[in-house]
Amino acid sequence: MAISLREPILDWYAEHNRDLPWRRPAATPWGILVSEIMLQQTPVNRVLPIWTEWMERWPTPEALAAQPPGEAVRHWGRLGYPRRALNLHACARAIAAEHEGRVPDTYEALRALPGIGDYTAAAVASFAYGRSHAVLDTNVRRVLARTVRGEEYPPKATTSAERRLAESLIPAVGAPRWAVAVMELGALVCTARAPRCEGCPVAAQCAWRLAGRPAHDGPVRRGQTYAGTDRQCRGRLLAVLRETHGPVPKETLDMVWADHVQRERALDGLLDDGLAEVLADGTYRLPA
Ligand code: ADE
Repeated sequence: MAISLREPILDWYAEHNRDLPWRRPAATPWGILVSEIMLQQTPVNRVLPIWTEWMERWPTPEALAAQPPGEAVRHWGRLGYPRRALNLHACARAIAAEHEGRVPDTYEALRALPGIGDYTAAAVASFAYGRSHAVLDTNVRRVLARTVRGEEYPPKATTSAERRLAESLIPAVGAPRWAVAVMELGALVCTARAPRCEGCPVAAQCAWRLAGRPAHDGPVRRGQTYAGTDRQCRGRLLAVLRETHGPVPKETLDMVWADHVQRERALDGLLDDGLAEVLADGTYRLPA
């Protein structure tokens, strides 16, 4: 029964897909890898300018690998979760050192790169190399939870049942296009908060809709608040380091956040994560 999802979703995608640069035929495996890391926790419209800048600045893994890790952090802009910049830099160095500068073309070799999890390895193997993998991001998991399982949201962590279901749906031909089509449906129509079922190509067979769109039972997921958090404080401190070329005195960092205890905790967190360094004279900088 779930097999009948395929044709309507693929037809819908043909008409409604967004023309995003990492989906174009000219996109390189490196561009696709960078896009997948950036898109994991940041919306498309914020990723677009930063991804474009990265591709101009570092068109190959070797170009990034030749830079200190702090440059990846500096040019991460305001994408958030900046450890991803360090992960990408470590990936670039591993690709340069162990794969002759070519992004590996199998799930297993991709999965072995620093900071690359199941999702990213499957996405890059699929989108860059045409391989057949279940690409289970949160959008895909939500579409399958609703249409097939009749539940508003997928489980917190990916289950083997979800994986089996996703694998059973992969078409013999065109696995990458199917993966991106389901992803796009989740991003544009079957959204988390206010799904637009009237525009959905599989509304007539969606188990969740046919059941009357029952609300998720259990704790309601709240959007993450940001104002006043340690994350916001870290973001402010890191912004100063990113915008300054050369060492930053502690007093300059002290000016960007009033709460002393929170500021010190955030600064320690940046040092622990390798996102900042303190020099012998007590000044700070991005990692060299
Ligand atoms: N196209 C390919 N991968 C994508 C992703 N993770 N998010 C949005 N669009 C994409």
